[in-house]
Amino acid sequence: MHKKYGDVFEFYIFKKRIIMLNRADLAENNVLKQSIKSNYFVRALSRSQGWRELGLTERGIVLNAKFKTWSLNRRFLSHCLGATKYIREIFNVAHNRFLEAEQYLKKVDDNTPLEFSKWFHCLTVDTKIEITTGEKTYALAAYANSLLPPHLQKPVPESSIQSYSEFISSLLYRTSVGRYFTRTPAFLRHHVPGFKHIAERMKKKVAWLDEEVKKLVRKKKELIASMDDKEELKMDLLTLMLTTNTERDTNKVKAREFEEPLDESEIASILIEVFSGGVGTITTALCFTVYYICKHPAVKSRLVSEIDATLSADDNTLTYDSLTTLFPYTSAVMKEAARILTIVPLAVQIASEDDEVAGYKWRAGTTIGVNIGVIHKHEAHWKDPETFRPERFLDEGGDEIQPRTFLPFGGTVRVCPGRVVADKLMKTFLILLFSKFEVELCEPDKELEYAYTLANNCKELKVYLKARITEQNV
Ligand code: HEM
Repeated sequence: MHKKYGDVFEFYIFKKRIIMLNRADLAENNVLKQSIKSNYFVRALSRSQGWRELGLTERGIVLNAKFKTWSLNRRFLSHCLGATKYIREIFNVAHNRFLEAEQYLKKVDDNTPLEFSKWFHCLTVDTKIEITTGEKTYALAAYANSLLPPHLQKPVPESSIQSYSEFISSLLYRTSVGRYFTRTPAFLRHHVPGFKHIAERMKKKVAWLDEEVKKLVRKKKELIASMDDKEELKMDLLTLMLTTNTERDTNKVKAREFEEPLDESEIASILIEVFSGGVGTITTALCFTVYYICKHPAVKSRLVSEIDATLSADDNTLTYDSLTTLFPYTSAVMKEAARILTIVPLAVQIASEDDEVAGYKWRAGTTIGVNIGVIHKHEAHWKDPETFRPERFLDEGGDEIQPRTFLPFGGTVRVCPGRVVADKLMKTFLILLFSKFEVELCEPDKELEYAYTLANNCKELKVYLKARITEQNV
């Protein structure tokens, strides 16, 4: 649309006017300011009656429109996600979960097409549940068994989260609930039998999930209380959130950063958001990255050479230190994939005060959208924007990247607090994948299949995997 209507245009959805900004410099002084004094704190989605009715706009983080609780919850979460010990633990869990997955993958016949969006989804679910709650789930093992003949299947251990598949599907179901509540008019949801029945069933499921997560929080709280003070605590997000600002705090910050521990129901809301916000995005980002790597043989070959050379110089193992300081080309490839196909292509905020944006004066209450997907490919910001060229992101010999033009994790005051977690998880998985397997697209000429619902979601990515015979894999 911006090609036809220019870098600033307005349009209407259900009589609601939205001003769309398609160049980073038009938004950099106001909407794209990451200050808590920003006038663009409220997400447009939080104004939807549907989300309000689900009770999600006054708690947690993602849709919370109440500055005070949002700010406290967000600082708490960022504080916990930023703990060095926690980031290291994320690496350990991701590494171990991948090695487990490798055992299953090696049993699958080289000629069996693997549905990678499903595979990465299961791997991400298992890893995220473990780093978030400390519980082990076996989504990937169950999926692998479905591909194997009976004699090669491994029994799936009983999960410590009761009926975890129901738990996981309810977590992911929240997106569909949100879609229904925002798209179906309130009159239908409240008064017309078929619609009303669906809305009530969905609300019950959301309430069930809230209760299950609160139970998990209470169980962990009791476990921590029953432990000896000297016993080392598990390094998962729930433990960190429960112990921050208590006697057992292992991640102390300066005095009085937080007045008191966070309350149980806010912790439950945040856990649900961290989970449901991170799984689909990471799965899709991994699929898109693998797709672009496989579509560009020269990129694949340089990536694999970097991985092989770096691992063999480090005893053929991937360590946390090498993950964070080496692999510049792998990082550049991940960035270029995130640029060329943006996972969350829009940030839509509401102005809390009258303002001048992009040379025009707007009233408080105006809805302003930053078109990240377009900014990522704008000729004013990028050389040959349609070309997949990771080299542009290299520190040495790369292009000069203009400020605020690369926004895969958003760029407003609500910028993603999970970006380091996402980066570490994805990089670990990609390095291990390409070091251990030859990856080929089953249908190299087929277009990537994805659909947009608040974020882009990969619908299908079929690949063949063949174990590589290299020094590090013998
Ligand atoms: C590739 C993976 C991910 C992508 C592409 C992504 C992208 C985004 C984007 C674009 C936003 C909105 C930013 C804005 O409005 O300016 C966001 C918000 C958020 N993300 Fe992520 N995210 C990812 C992974 C994660 C993970 C792993 C977590 C949790 C550990 C997470 C937690 C959140 C939360 C809580 C918010 C809401 C922040 C707020 O409203 O203050 N995300 N994410």
